Amino acid sequence: MDKSAAELERTFGIDGSVAIGPGRGGLTCVKLFYEDSYASVRTLLWFVVHYLSLAFLDLLTGEFFLIYVRPEGFGKLGALMQHGFARNSFWEIESTTVDSLDSIPSVTLLLKSNDTTKQIWAHDFELRLTVTLFKQSLNSTSGSLDCELKVSNVGPRPFTFSGALHTYLNVLDARRAKVMLENHKGISKDNITEQVLVRQVKRVQFGEEVDLSIFDVKDEIQLNGLAKDKTTVEKKGFPDVVVWNPHIEKSAGMADLEDSAWRHFVCVEPAIANVLIRLEQHETWVGRMRLS
Ligand SMILES: *[C@@H]1O[C@H](CO)[C@@H](O)[C@H](O)[C@H]1NC(C)=O
Ligand SMILES: *[C@@H]1O[C@H](CO)[C@@H](O)[C@H](O)[C@H]1NC(C)=O
Ligand SMILES: *[C@@H]1O[C@H](CO)[C@@H](O)[C@H](O)[C@H]1NC(C)=O
Repeated sequence: MDKSAAELERTFGIDGSVAIGPGRGGLTCVKLFYEDSYASVRTLLWFVVHYLSLAFLDLLTGEFFLIYVRPEGFGKLGALMQHGFARNSFWEIESTTVDSLDSIPSVTLLLKSNDTTKQIWAHDFELRLTVTLFKQSLNSTSGSLDCELKVSNVGPRPFTFSGALHTYLNVLDARRAKVMLENHKGISKDNITEQVLVRQVKRVQFGEEVDLSIFDVKDEIQLNGLAKDKTTVEKKGFPDVVVWNPHIEKSAGMADLEDSAWRHFVCVEPAIANVLIRLEQHETWVGRMRLS
């Protein structure tokens, strides 16, 4: 970071709605406040590190929300590291806004290609992540969190990419959580056995390790088992969903997870997990996720 938090606060802070300051690990965080909701957005790794509202209690389990953009293929096909490079890069704060009518706050982070990123991936791109706090309807009692990812091709050549918004949603007990899907078209891939499954997925439960890429999913997914009865993950632009929980054994082998952490989250990730998205010169793709 070449700008101090105080300097960023002078540029991007908005009285009562947006504050900037050092967060965990000394990294800069943008803090959004809206009625009973609060979100803390970090400019590197995980991005939305907290989202709290009275109705949700704490929807995200601590430092557990990240985005990745994998510009080439998937898994063994892709030349880049498993989760791409976007999440490991410092993003800059591009803008903060507050709607003058209803005080809805938002922040946009920007990651642009430069000589360093081009050594990893040769293309010219701009990625924008906008996080907004708002209410679904005026009289609703709970807040909502909206995350929008924009990928722009600003170079002369087309490129393809994949990616996901990797949410870790806080559940009381993963063994009792349920992900409910409607009208799934019927193809998914079990990433543990590497098998392509041809059957409709209607619900996913977590009695064991789950790592499922569900292709072509309707835009609304329900998750039961949070502090609140039901959470809706709404997505736009992202065709697929990845559902993941490591359960006991896998969790024990993961250096960045505490042994019992698996019980308290499930990942329901809006994703591009099957067919890569192709962008021509000057084209922009938009994907979004709303939690409410
Ligand atoms: C390129 O961007 C990355 C990510 O923001 C940053 O870490 C790096 O220092 C930049 N490199 C140059 C040469 O500007
Ligand atoms: C809340 O708003 C919805 C539509 O936005 C309306 O149908 C409903 O009656 C409202 N409820 C109350 C308690 O005002
Ligand atoms: C899918 O499985 C492969 C091979 O087991 C693993 O390396 C990769 O991390 C898994 N992908 C996800 C998204 O978990």
